[in-house]
Amino acid sequence: MKRDTFVNRLVACTLIAAASIAMPALASLSGPLNGDPVHGKALYQGCQACHSIDENDLGPRHRGVVGRRAASVADYSYSAALKNSHLTWDELTFWMT
Ligand code: HEC
Repeated sequence: MKRDTFVNRLVACTLIAAASIAMPALASLSGPLNGDPVHGKALYQGCQACHSIDENDLGPRHRGVVGRRAASVADYSYSAALKNSHLTWDELTFWMT
C-alpha cells in the first residue's frame, strides 16, 4: 500500500474512532456504565471495513483491546507512532485519540 493511502486511512480511522468512541466514553465517565450494545454494534460496522475481532486485517484484531497496551498485537505491523505512544487503551485514551 502506498504510504499516502495508509496515512489517509489512518486519519480516517482516528476521526471515526474519535467520533464514535469519545462521545459514549465521555457519557460513561460522568456516570455508571450505560453502554448501548445495539448502538455500539451498529457503530462497529464502520470499523469492520478495516478491523475484525479475531483476524488482523488492514487494522489489527480487536479482541481484548480495552485494557491492552497500544500496538501490542505481536503479528501486526504497527506504525512507529503507535508503537512509541506508550498508551493503554481505556475509556480515557480512546477519548483522547
Ligand atoms: C480505514 C481503515 C480503518 C478503519 C475504518 C478503522 N480503523 Fe482502527 N486502525 C486502522 C489501522 C491501519 C490501525 C493501525 C494504526 C497504526 O499502526 O498506527 C488501526 C488501529 C486501531 C486501534 C489500535 C489497536 C492496537 O492494537 O493498538 C484501535 C483501538 C482502533 N484502530 C479502533 C478502531 C475503531 C473503534 C474503529 C471504528 C470506530 C476503527 N478503528 C476503524 C485502520 C482503520
